[in-house]
Amino acid sequence: MIHEVIVTTVNKDNLVHIAPMGIKFIDHANQKCIKISPFKPSQTLDNLVSTKKATINFIDDVMVFAGIVTGIKKEWDLSPQAKDNVAHLSNTNSYMNLKVLNVVEDELRPNIICNIHDTQNLRPFMGFNRAQFSVIELAVLSTRLGMIDDEKVKREYEYLKIGIDKTAGEREKLAWNWIEDKIRGYFEK
Ligand SMILES: Cc1cc2nc3c(=O)[nH]c(=O)nc-3n(C[C@H](O)[C@H](O)[C@H](O)COP(=O)(O)O)c2cc1C
Repeated sequence: MIHEVIVTTVNKDNLVHIAPMGIKFIDHANQKCIKISPFKPSQTLDNLVSTKKATINFIDDVMVFAGIVTGIKKEWDLSPQAKDNVAHLSNTNSYMNLKVLNVVEDELRPNIICNIHDTQNLRPFMGFNRAQFSVIELAVLSTRLGMIDDEKVKREYEYLKIGIDKTAGEREKLAWNWIEDKIRGYFEK
């Protein structure tokens, strides 16, 4: 199973980088290891390789995903941690501190295998929401404009909008609007 999360990493100067990624548990039942697979080139990949640590944020605030993929809001509040760990998002539901165990090289998309050192729950999981699913899907689509068929993007947009119209709260509506503007900009070019 792939979990859509926010990965926080640091570079050598301890500058935090925030990026949405799909991650996998290697041993799902025991939750000991996680695989992160960033495409090349990416800041997340460079940071993972050079400082060998990351924090995985499991967060239901989809504005973070939308803000980053659109470039509208790339910086989010962070809660600092001990020097050995990477800061987590202040409003995350839960997080895991990771240490890089192994980098499995690949020309396109290396696999970064990480050990889970610590898990903390800060806010309860509030159940599934269809509008949040729609925002995540549209966010992914918006990172692939020009790579996937334009008609497919339009069809999927129409389908995903149903979840927004029926179930969105204010944050989901705002996040949707940000990504919608990015996609509109692409089609108007
Ligand atoms: C839900 C979601 C999942 C994503 N998963 C991945 C992923 O697994 N690998 C990846 O390279 N990019 C993924 N992306 C795209 C990256 O977030 C985006 O390209 C980002 O800029 C990463 O590059 P950076 O580390 O240089 O910021 C995902 C985007 C979204 C919205």
